[in-house]
Amino acid sequence: MKGVVLAGGKGTRLFPLTKVTNKHLLPIGREPMIFNPVKRLVEAGITDILIITSTEHMGEIVNLLGSGSEFQCNFTYKVQESPSGIAHALALAENFAGGDRIFVILGDNITTQNLSKFVKDFSNQEKGAKVLLKKVDEPERYGVAAIDEHHIVKIDEKPDKPDSDYAVIGYYMYDDQVFDIIRDIGLSPRGEYEITQVNNEYIKRNQLTFDILDGEWTDAGTFESYLFANKMMMNFKDD
Ligand code: DAU
Repeated sequence: MKGVVLAGGKGTRLFPLTKVTNKHLLPIGREPMIFNPVKRLVEAGITDILIITSTEHMGEIVNLLGSGSEFQCNFTYKVQESPSGIAHALALAENFAGGDRIFVILGDNITTQNLSKFVKDFSNQEKGAKVLLKKVDEPERYGVAAIDEHHIVKIDEKPDKPDSDYAVIGYYMYDDQVFDIIRDIGLSPRGEYEITQVNNEYIKRNQLTFDILDGEWTDAGTFESYLFANKMMMNFKDD
């Protein structure tokens, strides 16, 4: 399996911190934000990693991360020329994936949990996709899963009236159908190609599994969550 870290977008909710700096370069605890998704991938045994970011910040991201030798991995880099959504960014990973399965992590998602068991479970899954859920206080900020006992029935992106408290968080595992699915989706009302539309298509195909992330997690894209992420990571040390 190969890894993809999405680090594009505008980071408008953290303005003016993000006026000249890419969100994923901001400090979280003792390290730049993007170290967390990279380290979680490497810890899970995924060492071939594509980093996608915007044109204006590619230089700084490459300066920070380099070849990957510091992280015991190999980085490939690709530019997303406009911040047109998570699925739009992911489409750029098709050649890199080369038919392999991919583990996609949103660059502003932070966790202390080792993700190896989810990667192992997905490797044993015949086909399709796997997402991770987390019980959250403000589900309306996220993609929200309506769940029956064993399945996600549908996912709503930032719903006014959430069906559950379970957010679909920024850790997505896909087989190679994902790129054809992205080609078929349209723009959402907020003008983006949404990852939630991609996941809903896997639901239609009866090929979406899920697991619950039981460890500490947060996104870091708003001032409140950014502060929470810093507190969470202040004393965390990777082995
Ligand atoms: O954090 C989990 C949530 O992330 C999910 O529950 C939602 O379903 C999902 O849509 C996403 O919601 P956000 O509104 O928080 O996503 P945001 O626009 O902040 O983008 C998250 C990351 O994705 C960001 O750190 C960088 C990357 N990204 C985003 C966009 C819009 C890109 O690489 N390119 C983009 O064009």
